[in-house]
Amino acid sequence: MTTGAETEFARAVIAGLSQRPRVIPARFLYDKYGSELFEAITRLSEYYLTRAEVWLLRAHGPDIAHLSGHGRVLVEFGSGSSAKTPLLLDHVKATAYLPIDISADYLHASASAFAATHPGLDVLPLAADFTKPLSLPAMVAGEPKLGFFPGSTIGNMTHRAAVTLLRAFRDTLGPGTRLVIGIDTRKDPRLIQAAYNDAAGLTAAFNLNLLRRINRELEGTIPVRAFRHRAFWNDTLGRTEMHLVTAEDVAFHAAGHNFHLDAGDSIHTENSYKYTLEEARLLARASGWEPLVAWTDPNRLFALHLWAAEPDRIEP
Ligand code: AVI
Repeated sequence: MTTGAETEFARAVIAGLSQRPRVIPARFLYDKYGSELFEAITRLSEYYLTRAEVWLLRAHGPDIAHLSGHGRVLVEFGSGSSAKTPLLLDHVKATAYLPIDISADYLHASASAFAATHPGLDVLPLAADFTKPLSLPAMVAGEPKLGFFPGSTIGNMTHRAAVTLLRAFRDTLGPGTRLVIGIDTRKDPRLIQAAYNDAAGLTAAFNLNLLRRINRELEGTIPVRAFRHRAFWNDTLGRTEMHLVTAEDVAFHAAGHNFHLDAGDSIHTENSYKYTLEEARLLARASGWEPLVAWTDPNRLFALHLWAAEPDRIEP
């Protein structure tokens, strides 16, 4: 074990716990345990997002194929286990599948499993952080692309970061590209509240694992039992927030630094923005994409959007 003061995680923890309000960026929720907990969350009855998105992909895969045409390279951002990919791939008759994920081991294992069940398809895994500038392999350079960004991961970014990321996707994929993106909708806050405060306590475990991760990886001495998971809908900002709130005064060290929190203090660990269909269209346009279609499930719980990167041209 190391104090890891030189790692990106350590720097984020030191900076985030030193600022007010205290924050730790949500991407650090996904160590091995966190990723497993998130997978389990997606199967919870309260977590409507995954079920609704799978329903939408089943229902509208043929429409996506019809509107995008066949024979594109399918590029998936944050592919994980590629669980939703076949729902799209079966319809669009992709010429190749290019899954991009930050976790190289996981990516290569899932890509091999995927290739085994899709004989004849070129599977070209790319281990990379898709939030940083990317270049795709030369062999797909001139090919038309279909981007795929499911799961409403875009909702975990501030609007500014979301625009930056979506612009980068456009630059990476090139003009003429289509993008299929899943974005959670604004809805009755009670449904959102239940999804982020599940009865089995998996979301609480997912959130609290961040403190355990600090203890494991950064020689932390955080008394995890003193903290409570808190998730609530912020109507003004259109987002669910996750926090870790301490029930008592706590003092601990982590990554070689000392920290103190008074009872009731919180560490903000995640935002999950929800977009109306109109807000999602504005997000597309602000990011250089032309929104083509948005589909919602019968209960309007979730939306699947199809956007196009029109070639740049001279405007009046
Ligand atoms: C990955 N992301 C879209 C999830 C969400 O719903 O914001 C992460 C999550 N946080 C709590 N539960 C699930």
